[in-house]
Amino acid sequence: MTNSSISLKDSLEKVFTLLIGRREELRLMFRAIEKNLPIIIEGPIGTGKTEMAKAVSECLERPFIRVDGDNNLTAIKLKGWYDPPLVLEKGFSKESFISGPLTEAMEKGGIFFFNETNRSPSETINAALSALDERLITIPRLGTIKAEVGFIPIFTFNPKDTIATNPLPRAFYDRCIWINVNHQSREEMIEIVKLRTSSNDDLLIHISCDIVQTTINHPELEISSTVRGAIQLVELFPQNQDIDENTLISHVIAVHSRKVRCTTTSQKSEQTILEEIVSKILSTYEDTRIIRKKG
Ligand SMILES: Nc1ncnc2c1ncn2[C@@H]1O[C@H](COP(=O)(O)OP(=O)(O)O)[C@@H](O)[C@H]1O
Ligand SMILES: [Mg+2]
Repeated sequence: MTNSSISLKDSLEKVFTLLIGRREELRLMFRAIEKNLPIIIEGPIGTGKTEMAKAVSECLERPFIRVDGDNNLTAIKLKGWYDPPLVLEKGFSKESFISGPLTEAMEKGGIFFFNETNRSPSETINAALSALDERLITIPRLGTIKAEVGFIPIFTFNPKDTIATNPLPRAFYDRCIWINVNHQSREEMIEIVKLRTSSNDDLLIHISCDIVQTTINHPELEISSTVRGAIQLVELFPQNQDIDENTLISHVIAVHSRKVRCTTTSQKSEQTILEEIVSKILSTYEDTRIIRKKG
């Protein structure tokens, strides 16, 4: 066994301790990184895409350069630009060039984490594409910069995010390893909530995760809630006290009603559906702490 495969194995073991589940996906990510293959993590909001990329980078101990896609992220911001006062002093040279995150990651041999890639203009997405091809980037007047060993791009995107987004070109998928993530199981969600909150209120944690699980694949919801919502409800709700149905409903609405979205064919509002979900979940629990709504 070579040294690099030993350290890769150690890094994998470490990343397993930072996240709940996702072992297959993390193994795939490490294999791809080992082979210098860029990665796309695709999945709905709150499925751990950002967390996976952060945890992998932490364990690999490489420079981690993050950029979040948005409408104002131009190709120039991504690659870099000349600083006018420095250009006056030194001309167009390496000294007057301010590297953008893509160029910086290539120069440092780091992880270029391009979060929510599809929120950027297509011109910016295409600029990133050039770095995938031959690990080269061309800067006007400077020439070509070659990526140092260790440079690897990780992109994330949410296919359900359709407002003010641009589809990733086919050429992107052609060059990347595609890792698809979806919502985790009830059991894993419970573990995530325990990890991310300091709560020891098992009943509340279970109810909170059941609510989110019920929003997933609910026939009248086009967009479900997320583990983030399960975490928030547990943080917000009074711990180890009575769980009054009316109080729970108001908290659930505050946490989830703008995360979920009804299908166009549903005649109900998000709030009504959430109320129904809460009543249905509570009816499955026999616990003296639960105070049911009358009538
Ligand atoms: N597998 C997991 N293990 C531990 N925490 C997780 C896991 N998946 C998600 N989380 C937590 O859930 C929340 C949402 O995850 P995040 O990575 O931001 O989702 P996304 O980027 O897909 O929207 C974060 O608080 C994150 O720490
Ligand atoms: Mg994210």
